[in-house]
Amino acid sequence: MNITLRQLKVFEAVARHSSYTRAAEELHLTQPAVSIQVKSLEESVGLALFEQFGKQIYMTSAGEEILRYARSIAAQVDEISDVVARLKGVSRGSLHLAVATTANYFITHLLAAFHRQFPDVSINLSVTNRQGLLKQLAENSIDMVVMGEPPGERDLAGQAFMDNPLVVIAPPDHPLGTRKRIPLKTIAGERFVVREEDSGTRAAMTRFARRHQIAFTPAMVMTSNEAIKQAVSAGLGLGLVSAHTLELDLYANRLQILDVAHFPIARHWYIVHRQGKRLSPAADAFRDFLVENASTVWPTTGIEQAMK
Ligand code: PGA
Repeated sequence: MNITLRQLKVFEAVARHSSYTRAAEELHLTQPAVSIQVKSLEESVGLALFEQFGKQIYMTSAGEEILRYARSIAAQVDEISDVVARLKGVSRGSLHLAVATTANYFITHLLAAFHRQFPDVSINLSVTNRQGLLKQLAENSIDMVVMGEPPGERDLAGQAFMDNPLVVIAPPDHPLGTRKRIPLKTIAGERFVVREEDSGTRAAMTRFARRHQIAFTPAMVMTSNEAIKQAVSAGLGLGLVSAHTLELDLYANRLQILDVAHFPIARHWYIVHRQGKRLSPAADAFRDFLVENASTVWPTTGIEQAMK
């Protein structure tokens, strides 16, 4: 069967207008040229697509079927040109991204997947805590940042793309490990190894404590999740971290997640940029990539099971 895109396009216009004349006008063709295209399509499929009664033309049931395909093929052809336009723009570009300390655990996997799709985009990644990210946004020194929930400022635009549950961690042999729904009061009596004041994790911890009218006892402050996990594993206290940091530690049985009432603290990861910033095609493509693919590239099923 030798069907061309042009035949399908002409046929679709005739079907939409129920008229050869109006289709010809729309496509800037002569009426005989339109008839020839429809005729050759009918010859290719070996079925009549229209029938004529007096001056009026009607579509046959074969015509209805072919019309559905003609429309979906036209939509796909449009998509091809969109994608090509984007690829051309993206392939020359660069991406300046800053991420929260905690996002570093998954962002490299997502960047690797993005790089496979757009190998010529040059990527610059910086890692800092929440305050550091807000500063970079304010200075307009970065395309976009990946952070916990952005502050509700009007000049920031953010889109959530993945869950970010915060959990309480303990060494594997901690006596609270066997308890279910441990009351917050019990937890508040424990010593905690916590993140620094400027971190999103610490801010979320403080908000949570205020909402539930408890006070955590910070025994030690550390600026890295790795340091907190090592400290907790060594028995220096409990910790409160994003579950995204824990995959290997749970697997290696170096830490456990405690079953505490009102936990996990439900948060999300956001991709954030300044409102009205003209994103480069590469930055734009990365944002779309993140929103569409984050949960497939970085599946959290292992973590979810450990939280049950
Ligand atoms: P943080 O940010 O690494 O600064 O804690 C992560 C978050 O906001 O959850």
